[in-house]
Amino acid sequence: GIPRYVKIVEVGARDGLQNEKNMVPTSVKIELIQRLVSTGLSVVEATGFVSPKWVPQLADAREAMEALKNLDTTRLPVLVPNLKGFEAAVAAGAKEIAVFASASESFSKSNINCTIDESFSRYRAVVHAATKLNIRVRGYVSCVIGCPVEGMISPSKVAYVAKELCDMGCSEISLGDTIGIGTPGPVISMLGAVMSVVPVERLAVHFHDTYGQSLPNILVSLQISNSDSVNRQKRRVPICQGASGNVATEDVVYMLHGLGIQTNVDLGKLLQTGEFICKHLGRRSGSKAAVAFSQL
Ligand code: HMG
Ligand code: MG
Repeated sequence: GIPRYVKIVEVGARDGLQNEKNMVPTSVKIELIQRLVSTGLSVVEATGFVSPKWVPQLADAREAMEALKNLDTTRLPVLVPNLKGFEAAVAAGAKEIAVFASASESFSKSNINCTIDESFSRYRAVVHAATKLNIRVRGYVSCVIGCPVEGMISPSKVAYVAKELCDMGCSEISLGDTIGIGTPGPVISMLGAVMSVVPVERLAVHFHDTYGQSLPNILVSLQISNSDSVNRQKRRVPICQGASGNVATEDVVYMLHGLGIQTNVDLGKLLQTGEFICKHLGRRSGSKAAVAFSQL
């Protein structure tokens, strides 16, 4: 079946922008997030309190978050890789965070400079500190289908990492096809393995569109996770700009609305937001829906 409502976790301001070579002005990031919030999106990932040596684009996390902390109708989670990042996030006013692990050892090393097991002990400390302050923690698993170095990743490895994050207290586990190689077959196998160890209502999916497979992957994820019960879906998907390979939120919203699924997102405002950021980046939209609507 198909759920009646899908929650979209918008990550364009973080995942979309983090690889931009030229510094995007903080004021543009703030306006982007404000516009995303005004489209009706209920969760907008704002930035990451990560090392500026590793991700220079997010060096302005504190300024951005301080400007946004009064938007309290919307959840604005921020990425946190360790306790240092957690403390900085809280000091800047963050009320929700996300930790990020990987199902691939190689990717864990290259992204956060530690093994998967070391990341669990870092994150346990973060979740412990967050729980004391009543701060909700989302948990990502990267490379849930494949890894650039290790090739295909086994569903049991993904299930293991997802369960660890769940057991340590992450309220929601987002399964990331970081390099966008998944197709519906492997996605169904992976979800089957994860759903056997983590309650489905705590799962989200995060697809990159590198091979153009995000929409079918989202559709099968909705179907499989909804097969036994009601509306507990979470989609996490980012907006346009085609820079990072994230699936375009405009395309996702267009598909979901076509299926009669509610998102609470105003597609018109979302299209304008996509236009706003593409203009600032000097880039054509990566959203097919945005291109099509602009030609009407
Ligand atoms: P490290 O170099 O091993 O860290 O990096 P360290 O603890 O040895 O510290 C080295 C320096 O970094 C020190 O500064 C620390 O103070 C500083 P120095 O003494 O040299 O001046 N430092 C920090 N600064 C600011 N904020 C912090 C922080 N921590 C240490 N939180 C570390 C380890 C985890 C910090 C680093 O690897 C890192 O920041 N990685 C983040 C990488 C990242 O953000 N990747 C992108 C997001 S993940 C993603 O995109 C996937 C996702 O979309 C899902 C999917 O698609 O799969 C979520
Ligand atoms: Mg990502």
